[in-house]
Amino acid sequence: MKKQILVSGLRATSEPHIGNYLGAIRQFIEKQDDYDCYFFIADLHTMTTPFEPKELRKSSLAVLADYIALGLDPKKSTIFLQSQVPQHTELAWIFNCITPVSELQRMTQFKDKASDTKSVNSGLLNYPVLMAADVLLYKAEVVPVGDDQVQHLELSRIISRKFNNAFGKTFPEPKPLLNKNARVMSLTDPTKKMSKTGGAGILLNDSPEEIKKKLRKAVTATDAKGKSAGVDNLMGLLKEFGTEGQYEFFLSQLKDNTIQFSHLKDALAEVIANHFAKFREKRAKLLADPEYLAEVLADGARKAQSIASKTISEVKEKVGLL
Ligand code: TRP
Repeated sequence: MKKQILVSGLRATSEPHIGNYLGAIRQFIEKQDDYDCYFFIADLHTMTTPFEPKELRKSSLAVLADYIALGLDPKKSTIFLQSQVPQHTELAWIFNCITPVSELQRMTQFKDKASDTKSVNSGLLNYPVLMAADVLLYKAEVVPVGDDQVQHLELSRIISRKFNNAFGKTFPEPKPLLNKNARVMSLTDPTKKMSKTGGAGILLNDSPEEIKKKLRKAVTATDAKGKSAGVDNLMGLLKEFGTEGQYEFFLSQLKDNTIQFSHLKDALAEVIANHFAKFREKRAKLLADPEYLAEVLADGARKAQSIASKTISEVKEKVGLL
């Protein structure tokens, strides 16, 4: 049976933390065998908010190294850099011409980001149009996204429908693939989502010592009823990274109130550090070999373009450009 097409863009900004890993990245890796996968680093999207020219390519390569080190396999999936496949922007332009401005102005992410900046560039407004082009260029059927991107994907379906109605059936309506894992919370404020700032998050590339240090400072304070978001968060992490025996052990100690949180934290630090030991090694090796990384991208761009150019020809013909 023909595999379904899956497309997803990887944000090329910060170093991933364990919340990003459990929330999204692990899902990408697991999908590689079941779908025909296209993963790209969304460097053109990065440009919609202030960026450093010197850092742009460097951070794209770092993201690539992260994902390959975690298990994205260039032999199984097509992995590429968005800016190296010019058909993304070509299709985005055509989509711009059928997308009402009002649809873009009601996007929550646009409203949030626009309220943060003094001068709002039109790239920020058109961000979801480029995203629609990203997925429809490959006629994606499924798109793994975080819940913050569901609204954008809904707009991709609107654009797909509009195009099909105006010019004849061309695109599918891509569905989001949502992750069902519990959210990983901040170590320092467990009522908020984990972020990388301060000691709030454990980065995948943190050394075992850093992981231990951050966990030692994690909030566990328990309220009168014995409920604690901080402890729940740590136990959730132990469930993911520890053995079943370890989890049961601390759970029963928690129930009889004999638990020493320092023991739980050190056990957790050890299993997390071990879980990412190979990753840290592999990542360092990859970053020391930028030629290999460039080759992966060139190869991916070639594969992506062979599909993308077909879609663009079809679209140009349908809209009357050819
Ligand atoms: N906007 C996505 C994010 O911020 C990244 C992205 C760009 C994307 N293009 C995409 C995700 C296409 C899925 C499909 O995470």
